[in-house]
Amino acid sequence: MDISSDPQPAVFSGMLLGVFITFEGCEGSGKTTQATMLQDRLAADGREATLIREPGGTQVGERIREILLDSGSGDISPVTEALLFAAARSQLVRDVIEPALRDGKTVIADRYVDSSLAYQGVGRGCGLEPVKNLNDWATGSLEPNLTVYLDLSVEDGLARVESDQKDRIESEDVEFHVNVRYAYNMLQRLYSHRYVVVNAQGTPEEVHERVFREVQKIL
Ligand SMILES: Nc1ncnc2c1ncn2[C@@H]1O[C@H](COP(=O)(O)OP(=O)(O)OP(=O)(O)O)[C@@H](O)[C@H]1O
Ligand SMILES: [Mg+2]
Repeated sequence: MDISSDPQPAVFSGMLLGVFITFEGCEGSGKTTQATMLQDRLAADGREATLIREPGGTQVGERIREILLDSGSGDISPVTEALLFAAARSQLVRDVIEPALRDGKTVIADRYVDSSLAYQGVGRGCGLEPVKNLNDWATGSLEPNLTVYLDLSVEDGLARVESDQKDRIESEDVEFHVNVRYAYNMLQRLYSHRYVVVNAQGTPEEVHERVFREVQKIL
């Protein structure tokens, strides 16, 4: 099975001038913290960047987010979960990411397709291939230019997230999150052309300097 895709997305190739950066990693690895710090740093350098969070970022996407993260949604099957994430992502690509990239802007995403491959494909057991195919359809195969993977042990990540603030997915057992981390290791190898692995230990400022060094290489 070959689930790696061409680095130049078929649908968008040649039309997108902007740079698309995604943050990936396990729960509590610092994605939201680092995505925000990167946006601030780029703004200070006079480079405005659009920051998006997944799922969400559009009206329908925010409603889907509520369904997905709310413990009151009852039992959501793995396939339903994969479809809901892909639905929110599809709207986000069409309404926000693709127009911004077309305008030459930098887009920073707090999670993207790789999260679905890791969480729904492997963690929930839907399989990588169907989730990849679904997301290719949903996004027009739009791939990031750079994926910053924040590397932190599952235990350290979960310890950073307050136990009373855990959402439906964060509340899964440790084994689920260990499988997700294993999946990310696989994705790093599959997509080595765009992945950088950043040590997520240390202060937010220390991690940010590591992230920024990698981002500077492609800007
Ligand atoms: N380098 C760091 N050292 C210690 N704590 C941190 C660090 N970076 C972020 N935190 C704190 O850890 C918690 C999780 O960070 P953050 O929300 O950025 O992670 P995340 O990867 O976005 O998590 P999630 O997967 O739940 O969205 C937050 O309370 C944040 O303030
Ligand atoms: Mg976050």
